[in-house]
Amino acid sequence: MGICLSARIKAESPWHTGVSSRHVSTDGSSLSGSNSKGSSFSIPPTPRSEGEILQSCNLKNFSYFDLKMATRNFRPDSVLGEGGFGSVYKGWIDENSFAAAKPGTGMVIAVKRLNLEGFQGHKEWLAEVNYLGQFYHPHLVKLIGYCLEEEHRLLVYEFMPRGCLENHLFRRGSHFQPLSWNLRLKVAIGAAKGLAFLHSAETKVIYRDFKTSNILLDSHYNAKLSDFGLAKDGPTGDKSHVSTRVMGTYGYAAPEYMATGHLTARSDVYSFGVVLLEMLSGRRAMDKNKPSGEHNLVEWAKPFLANKRKVFRILDSHLEGQYSLDVAYKAANLALRCLSAEPKFRPNMDEVVKELERLHDSKEMGNTHSDPVAGAKPRRRSDSKEMGNTHNDPAAGAKPRRRSAGDAGNENTAAAYPRPSSSPLYTK
Ligand SMILES: Nc1ncnc2c1ncn2[C@@H]1O[C@H](COP(=O)(O)OP(=O)(O)OP(=O)(O)O)[C@@H](O)[C@H]1O
Ligand SMILES: [Mg+2]
Repeated sequence: MGICLSARIKAESPWHTGVSSRHVSTDGSSLSGSNSKGSSFSIPPTPRSEGEILQSCNLKNFSYFDLKMATRNFRPDSVLGEGGFGSVYKGWIDENSFAAAKPGTGMVIAVKRLNLEGFQGHKEWLAEVNYLGQFYHPHLVKLIGYCLEEEHRLLVYEFMPRGCLENHLFRRGSHFQPLSWNLRLKVAIGAAKGLAFLHSAETKVIYRDFKTSNILLDSHYNAKLSDFGLAKDGPTGDKSHVSTRVMGTYGYAAPEYMATGHLTARSDVYSFGVVLLEMLSGRRAMDKNKPSGEHNLVEWAKPFLANKRKVFRILDSHLEGQYSLDVAYKAANLALRCLSAEPKFRPNMDEVVKELERLHDSKEMGNTHSDPVAGAKPRRRSDSKEMGNTHNDPAAGAKPRRRSAGDAGNENTAAAYPRPSSSPLYTK
């Protein structure tokens, strides 16, 4: 989202693996066992050195020159977005040889280039290679390769034509129409399946950076998680949590994790609840542009979530007429359970997937008259400035997202507002 105003700082070694001696972990937690990671692979016991990771990851090692060619010398008009790590460029490679191809031919890729200042993102870069180099899952973005050459650190991904969920929820313009209720549920299910896979017994990874900008969408709105720079192996043996320095993004991190640094899979479930709430309400997790009392989405929305007669008040007005109140109430209730202050009351991600699928398959979907309360006209939220465009759907009209220097000016963005970015949240 080329409009990221705040720098992301991820100073912590994002994981246990030893990295190289120049990049020693600061939290000292080395927690992974020799568990098998998913069905098609197993990883050796950690800590693994940088060399071991790069050797075993089954990814293409690109030269800097290859990627320079593939992105037409990192042309500003091929920028897809920017995050704290650096810019992401669109490029083309030959699908067989992986050599740079002419624009518009071969396979489209997204190339993330680490900002050179500071060299701080090396650990995240390596964490991404470590995790995405091992995992293959339809709801995780595919990492094709990397470049490690002198000071250059790049990552090469499959191209996700519809960009990130954040843009679809919060940016308005010709490329971004409000998503329909059905598409929001579809995206929520995909993202939940990605997290459920990470949390599964064979994988046991805590993602730690679940937020709308890290959920990417393919042309059919299948959601895939990206950005594993903060991911960590979950606790092993009889340990209940992993102790870490608190990292993440304000508004998404679970309160007990913020308070103690104790990380569990349930911390990701909390973040999922925040994202689900953003999808239901069309509001950002943190928004200083809102009236006081409404800056923090969770605090503002919680009292409405458990009340069937009030829940429509927090629902995105663009969704009017697309949901039955009963289904919306169940979705809100699911968000509320994910947001429980007490982690043990949060559902696990498998339960979340099942519940969302039930809601998606519900016959009542789209029938707002099935419930008497639905007859009440939902109060229009006073944030019409943010949701400038009132067209109702989505899929049809929305073009593949292409954020480039050229089109930036055409978009009426809600985001003259510093985007939330991952950073240390609190130093223990
Ligand atoms: N594989 C991809 N295909 C298409 N667009 C992508 C891809 N990866 C990233 N992008 C775009 O680039 C943007 C920047 O991504 P990046 O992960 O660097 O930062 P971010 O997630 O927005 O912010 P943060 O640094 O806080 O994680 C994304 O929001 C998305 O719009
Ligand atoms: Mg990201």
